[in-house]
Amino acid sequence: MAETSRIADFRNMPVDERRTAVADVLGTDVDLFSQVNSDSFGPDDAANLSENVFGVFSLPLGVATNFTINGTDVLVPMATEEASVIAAASNAARIARPQGGFSTSSTEPVMQAQIQLINVADPHAARTRILERQAEIIDLANDQDPKLVEVGGGVKGLEVRLVEARTATYVLVHLLVDVRDAMGANAVNTMAEAVSGTVAAIAEGDALLRILTNKADRRLSRARAVFDRDLLGGDEVIDNILHAYELAAADPYRAATHNKGIMNGISAVVLATGNDTRAVEAGAHSHAVVDGRYSSLSTFEKNADGDLVGTLEMPIPVGLVGGATRVHPAARAALQIAEVSTAQDLAEMVVAAGLAQNLAALRVLATEGVQRGHMSLHAKNLAASAGATAEETTIIVNRLIEEKAFRFDRVQSILDELRSGGSQ
Ligand code: MEV
Repeated sequence: MAETSRIADFRNMPVDERRTAVADVLGTDVDLFSQVNSDSFGPDDAANLSENVFGVFSLPLGVATNFTINGTDVLVPMATEEASVIAAASNAARIARPQGGFSTSSTEPVMQAQIQLINVADPHAARTRILERQAEIIDLANDQDPKLVEVGGGVKGLEVRLVEARTATYVLVHLLVDVRDAMGANAVNTMAEAVSGTVAAIAEGDALLRILTNKADRRLSRARAVFDRDLLGGDEVIDNILHAYELAAADPYRAATHNKGIMNGISAVVLATGNDTRAVEAGAHSHAVVDGRYSSLSTFEKNADGDLVGTLEMPIPVGLVGGATRVHPAARAALQIAEVSTAQDLAEMVVAAGLAQNLAALRVLATEGVQRGHMSLHAKNLAASAGATAEETTIIVNRLIEEKAFRFDRVQSILDELRSGGSQ
């Protein structure tokens, strides 16, 4: 458990000091961070994960501070190329702290595999025949992964759906598999392939697709937080955040952007821990469709005390084993920083980060707008790309903000002026 997730002046520390501060809080050795040095995952390591590899693409890895989840302080590892995301999550977590931080919970980690049966003459009867023999099918599926069954996972149910498509009625067999600490794609796909011959024979048809569904709606995680009225900026800010939320709930165009803000937090933690961002994103967007309309994944309300309450419930299919989680040294370090011991713990941290990110974005949008913060970061990027030192960057950024001129040619002329000792 992190001693605290509040680290004074963390934002302004040089990287080495930040590493020491995080190691201190976790009570671990700063050597933990040797795993996230740029040379710890080279092209040869990368070639074990992908194909045609000729290099490694690095991203910023940071930690969001101020998080309390279920009464415990935690540091949240995040990998993202987007400026402001980690600071915003930390800020929202600070606003949730006075009311206890984030409360989270999850369903069991159940993933589903689909087996598509084609050329079935009597789909309704086939469905019933399959259900009659479900125990045999489940046993056969469980035989593929005795280790998973040993640790309490394995197939927990079987469902059969009939899907009317343009040219046929497909019989879809769903295996509901508790995958414990895995993301689970490999486990469920292996099972689906193994039982497909048997279910096709029972249905007197042919098996075609045998693959998990990313609509992981049996593997949900939830977060709830009360955001302090005073720290948010008062009643008017809350009312405007509620208007912003209500628009997202009612309008798919706004909902897409609102949910993108949530995914800024979600995907950053998923990526940092070596998990599959696309799987989580596919699950999220499929879950955002309510009564046939794309909507907000989160909800916001005012509680009886006038504080803002946010909730977020969505599929979070992440694991602690498999994929890059164990192979990538930075992912291993991120998991150590997160101090999670089950995939459910990790999923709950992910969903808390999503809710924090969402609240932070709504608060900025409902007050000053995003551009002020973005432009100063943009100015910083421009200065860096012109080769400015840290000291020169500070002067350039202030000057660009003052002049409201965020152009590369202006950065270069200020830099020239600074280096020639003159003034323009
Ligand atoms: C930008 O990456 C995310 C936001 O657009 C989210 C939102 O509009 O709620 C700021």
